[in-house]
Amino acid sequence: MNYERGKLVYVGMSADLIHHGHINIIQEAAKLGKVMVGLLTDKAIASYKRLPALTYQQRKVVIENIKGVTEVVAQETLDYVPNLRKYKPNYVVHGDDWKTGVQKQTRERVIETMKEWGGELVEILYTGGISSTQLHKHLREIGITPEVRMKKLRRLLGAKEMVRFLEAHNGISALIVENIRVVRNEKAQEFDGIWLSSLTDSTAKGKPDIELVARLDTLNHIIEATTKPIIVDGDTGGIPEHFVFLVKTLERFGVSAVIIEDRVGLKKNSLFGTKVVQEQDSIKDFCHKLSMGKKAQVTEDFMIIARIESLILNAGLEDALIRANAYIQAGADGIMIHSEEKDPTEIFEFCRSYSLFEKKVHLVVVPSTFSHVSETELKERGVSVVIYANHLLRSAYPAMNKVAEAILLHERAHEAEQFCMPIKDIINLIPSGK
Ligand code: SPV
Ligand code: MG
Repeated sequence: MNYERGKLVYVGMSADLIHHGHINIIQEAAKLGKVMVGLLTDKAIASYKRLPALTYQQRKVVIENIKGVTEVVAQETLDYVPNLRKYKPNYVVHGDDWKTGVQKQTRERVIETMKEWGGELVEILYTGGISSTQLHKHLREIGITPEVRMKKLRRLLGAKEMVRFLEAHNGISALIVENIRVVRNEKAQEFDGIWLSSLTDSTAKGKPDIELVARLDTLNHIIEATTKPIIVDGDTGGIPEHFVFLVKTLERFGVSAVIIEDRVGLKKNSLFGTKVVQEQDSIKDFCHKLSMGKKAQVTEDFMIIARIESLILNAGLEDALIRANAYIQAGADGIMIHSEEKDPTEIFEFCRSYSLFEKKVHLVVVPSTFSHVSETELKERGVSVVIYANHLLRSAYPAMNKVAEAILLHERAHEAEQFCMPIKDIINLIPSGK
């Protein structure tokens, strides 16, 4: 074995689900010197793909105990350069699979930087026949525990500047949120989690959005079909004594957060604006409800997010800000500011004043009416959770109507077929148990 004593070999890895490909790289690296693993943090990984199954600390323990590894250091970015300049290794060892795709530029920067002190990139044959993507797919098929799912939202919020949630109202729509993936600028884009909306949950059951439909039945279907974190629309949360039970129930299901809105009486959907009479809760009573909820939760991970209806009910920006401050003092883990205006000015004004708060929590926005506002614009204003609250049901309904009309018009289904997925696809969409 050509072991060069005193030489430092740097190996960057995510090391989520360890397989023989990782061991091979470490073994090859150990032939060249002392192996320092630059373990990508959650933040570094989330910058270009899905959050790993294991946390940084869990992955670190695994890697530290692999034979051949001398030291593990945190690599905070996908880019190797900051760590390379810091540790000046003699070699970087990597599989030869990064010459194209999202890591191409990272590779080029490694080669350039190593030249600064005469270091070298050593590429070894990529181990075929196994891929983390496949392993992740199998893991998703196995499922997830409530605890791991619940923790995911806080992990994501720690790793990403902004997370995006999309509405689901049953198992199949939740599966879309779970699985849909696009590649944009060479980076995989996914939804981070599922919003269980009261509007779409109620509408899908042919009921009005007035706290009539209990959320748990739908929640159960969504949980069985998915692994991503879930934020539940808790409407008003009910009376405080009932809210306490809701919190415990949602925690037990592994839900990450509940959002409750500061209204009392018969709740109607916010997007009616002032067209329906709605009463806002007093600050004192809503704070009481929030703090009862916080005291009731069993875990540290569950989040209670306070939703402010002041802009919807024309109570003004000042009132919204006073409430935000009071709700944070009462223990809210997040503030959702809602608006039914097409013009985002009032939301932006809220964000600006909110950014000056001494004590801030996560800021949540639901851009249904101001949908032209981009995620980047919201992120720049300090929003950390964006919820697309109703789009899957709103798109499904017109599609179903069109097909129903086509059948009636033609007195057969042939003309409607073009709007439908093939039968062989629908029967295979949900695999049966193996
Ligand atoms: C929901 O999705 O049910 C919401 C958001 O509460 S909104 O419909 O905009 O009020
Ligand atoms: Mg709702």
